[in-house]
Amino acid sequence: MHIGRRSFLLGAGAALAWAGAPAPARTAPAAAALVETGRIVERHLVAAERPVRVPRDGGPTVQTWTFDDDPLPVIRLQRGDRLRVRVENRLAQLLSIHWHGIRVPNAMDGVPYLTQDPVPPGGSFAYDFVPPDTGTFFFHTHCNTIEQLGRGLVGVVIVEGDEAEPHDADLVCVLRDWRIDPATGAFTGFTSQAAAARAGTFGAVRTANDRVEPVMEVPAGGNVRLRILNVDPTRIAELGLEGAPAAVIAVDGNGLPPVLLESWRLGPAMRIDLSLRAPGPGEEAVLYDYFSAEPVPLLRLRGAGAARARGPFQPQPLIASDFAVPEIEKAETFRLTFQATAVASDLVLPDGQVLRFADSLCLSSATHWAINRKTWPEAGHQQLPPALFQLEKGRSYVIELVNASQFQHPIHLHGVTFQVLDPRQGAPGQRADTVLLGPRDRTRIAFVADNPGDWMLHCHIIEHQETGMMGWFRVA
Ligand code: C2O
Ligand code: CU
Repeated sequence: MHIGRRSFLLGAGAALAWAGAPAPARTAPAAAALVETGRIVERHLVAAERPVRVPRDGGPTVQTWTFDDDPLPVIRLQRGDRLRVRVENRLAQLLSIHWHGIRVPNAMDGVPYLTQDPVPPGGSFAYDFVPPDTGTFFFHTHCNTIEQLGRGLVGVVIVEGDEAEPHDADLVCVLRDWRIDPATGAFTGFTSQAAAARAGTFGAVRTANDRVEPVMEVPAGGNVRLRILNVDPTRIAELGLEGAPAAVIAVDGNGLPPVLLESWRLGPAMRIDLSLRAPGPGEEAVLYDYFSAEPVPLLRLRGAGAARARGPFQPQPLIASDFAVPEIEKAETFRLTFQATAVASDLVLPDGQVLRFADSLCLSSATHWAINRKTWPEAGHQQLPPALFQLEKGRSYVIELVNASQFQHPIHLHGVTFQVLDPRQGAPGQRADTVLLGPRDRTRIAFVADNPGDWMLHCHIIEHQETGMMGWFRVA
């Protein structure tokens, strides 16, 4: 069955109609300050090779690398709880854990050589912090990430406490591709020079929660929160839901005024939380990726149990965490230009400015990408280049992100969540930790530099990151 974008849009219209009479205006609940609960959530993770069937329900056995016997560990805690994770390294290579999107103290950020020594084989490391914000986050290795993430080393962190009205179900949907031969389960390779210089290496087996197009039961007619994480190193998805009205209520874990979902472009490392009205008993709603010519079904939500009697679909805003609001008028601006090292053409910005890239770059076989004409391939992690910029603690900054290439780049900053100043995907002023730049695109982000330390900044298409598109900045 081919369901095109057109029928999808009609579906979205139907959803609006289904919402019925206009709902009374809702104001977002006031932002909440962090109060420590005194509770400690402890986990012991053991990074090791484990045979896992991929897809989970009946696929071939794959020699994955995972953090736990559960290949996709999900850690849930309440805002204010302390998270204590001891990771043991039973792999034959260096390892570290980065808590993506969580504003951790710098020493807990998990970047080898920049914030900690990597964990050697046989070694362990204790991460210990109180996540300051609610939301949907994930953790992954920050060493040899192309291979380690590609083999499976990832997990989910959910910090609860942001719902004014609870949903009837709260589900997690982790999207990733497996770079395996679907017949034998053998890995097919995580990168090539040609792919790294372009969009990256894609996996042949696309999964949601490590299953192919799984069916998840949801309370029929109920309100469901669906937390979608794109943890793939490469794939950019254009997500839409058919058969149920849905709204985006959080971006990268951060609540925003609900935006009715038409479709949402989710690059590597990006997350959205949906609030949706589950289909009736036995009926299905389908999550699609519309990015390819033929939409790809990723997940089915099937209504189960007796239909709940709910009023019109009226997604509620989440309780946002309090965070310092940047003072844009006083902010200093830095510009970061993301570019291919091999390309040396000038870029004319929309305002007429011309950026010159005619200077030759230092090219090496392992370098395809650069930030402000500087490259830092991960292989050279130990040789720290100078910081891209230095920020004064407590001050507001605007960073202008310019993509001078023909490829898309999801740009991620460690240590801060920023406000996206230019409206993206129908959601103005969203708060995020990763922003997707389209080809020849430009956007501005702003934040208060309130978290001291040395923080990474990179493209989250891991092959781009590891072939030069990364750098770091200092807040002091
Ligand atoms: Cu998820 Cu340095 O990133
Ligand atoms: Cu990139």
